Amino acid sequence: MKILHLDEVDSTNSHAKQTRDEGFDGDFIVINANRQTGGRGQGDHVWESEEGMNLTFSCIFKPEKLKICDVCKISQAVSLGVADFIKAVLENEIRDNVKLKWPNDVYVGDSKIAGILIENVFKGEFVDSSVIGIGININQVEFSEWIPNPVSLKLLSGDEYKLDCMLVMVCKSLYTRLKHLDSVTGEYCNILYQLNEIVEINVEGKIVQRRILGVDDFGELITSNS
Ligand code: BTN
Repeated sequence: MKILHLDEVDSTNSHAKQTRDEGFDGDFIVINANRQTGGRGQGDHVWESEEGMNLTFSCIFKPEKLKICDVCKISQAVSLGVADFIKAVLENEIRDNVKLKWPNDVYVGDSKIAGILIENVFKGEFVDSSVIGIGININQVEFSEWIPNPVSLKLLSGDEYKLDCMLVMVCKSLYTRLKHLDSVTGEYCNILYQLNEIVEINVEGKIVQRRILGVDDFGELITSNS
């Protein structure tokens, strides 16, 4: 594992994609930034993070012979790796509230603590490489009003955390999970946010009520009408 630190970059994902395209050695490289000027979220969202307060980093990961049909395992492994890290840092009683909101947001209770943005490259029938971008709220305690339900480690525990130690810790958790992709789907389902609850979801543009039952082999959410 190699960790590179940047003071400022537009987006660590964009930087990592450039590094990947230029060619790199190893199977796991981490690019961490103190400040992103154009942090990207899922869809067309931006990722806002106060300078020097949180973790904003991207990993370039090269899986060993992973078929394209199994690509969801990367996203599940990354979500679990971040959840493992958060559980390891928090006290017992809060630990049980760490959940994974499908497809890959990390929640504590009903609040989002981390977001994940994965950009894959395929070669033939295999996944060639993945750029895994992760934002984890660590020491930030005030957030913009437009961010729906944010939380940070500091808001949960009252403690201040050393970012460099946190980065090494989460990268180790991620690497361990990414090296054991076979076992991730079951564990991912076990801590799925709102598992067995009836929720409102968007099905082809229509808001409907469905019970969340798990995810299938392709990482799609399984729901039922009752
Ligand atoms: C989301 O929940 O919308 C995904 C957020 C992903 C944010 C991280 S921060 C580091 C990396 N670089 C980016 O530009 N985005 C990801």
